[in-house]
Amino acid sequence: MNNNSKNVVIITGAAGGIGREVAKRYAVEGAKLTLVDLFEEGLIETAKQLNLNEGDYLIVPTDVSKEEQVKNYVDQTINKFGKIDVFINNAGIEGKVQSIVETTAENLSKVLDVNVKGVYFGIKYVLPHMTEVKHGSIVNTASIAALEGSIGLTPYVASKHAVLGITRCASLEAAPSNVRVNAVCPGPVDNRMMRSIEEGSVPGAAEVAKEGIMKSIPMGRYATNEEVADLIYFLGSDKSIYITGVACRIDGGMGIN
Ligand SMILES: NC(=O)c1ccc[n+]([C@@H]2O[C@H](COP(=O)([O-])OP(=O)(O)OC[C@H]3O[C@@H](n4cnc5c(N)ncnc54)[C@H](O)[C@@H]3O)[C@@H](O)[C@H]2O)c1
Repeated sequence: MNNNSKNVVIITGAAGGIGREVAKRYAVEGAKLTLVDLFEEGLIETAKQLNLNEGDYLIVPTDVSKEEQVKNYVDQTINKFGKIDVFINNAGIEGKVQSIVETTAENLSKVLDVNVKGVYFGIKYVLPHMTEVKHGSIVNTASIAALEGSIGLTPYVASKHAVLGITRCASLEAAPSNVRVNAVCPGPVDNRMMRSIEEGSVPGAAEVAKEGIMKSIPMGRYATNEEVADLIYFLGSDKSIYITGVACRIDGGMGIN
């Protein structure tokens, strides 16, 4: 993205399925990485798997729902690398699979805190470093749950609708400064989060839930972490230089009708 020096990239949820795969793409291009997640051992594993050189990366264990911790990972990135070219705002949780009637205020708050406040605080602290130099790209991981309803996942669906709202507002505020803000909207991805949703949907028979979900996908299968990471990488890069404010579906055709 920046021809003069290596890209500096912050990735949240970097211990998870999609985040680790995104980190891989930036590691291959030789970017400097700030890896953020609640799960410290997972971050260490990501750095190990990517064979990152000491000095080329930072691990910042963070609860993204806590504003001061978000400010901390941004400050640490600026102190070590001096700039932020790309921000992958990706950490998220699915919450419990429960109907509106069953779900608790605690479940609702937890999902909104991580998925909405986490994304919001990230943009709040990263954006000034980008607008100041009129350069940068932010990619928020939303979901097809940002565009449609889903039985048993109201807090998650509400949170991802909010992520799109934040994406649209931030993209409008940032566009005059040549900074882009986009969202990816994956359908089901073959990783831990879907295993949890399948088990929550049909307790004790996750495979049955999976079969049912796959029938609703025109391409007949889940996405892979790699496929989603490729889209995120594209939106983070100059290859998408005139794209901002979009909610880009990657869903095997689920959005056709
Ligand atoms: N897996 C899917 O089917 C799917 C579909 C659409 C969108 N998404 C979204 O993709 C993003 C990445 O999820 P994934 O599929 O890689 O699942 P994942 O569970 O493997 O990764 C999520 C990561 O976020 C981290 N995390 C959770 N709470 C956190 C917090 N408070 N602070 C910091 N980190 C925290 C987890 O430790 C985990 O490493 C999420 O925003 C998710 O909602 C996933």
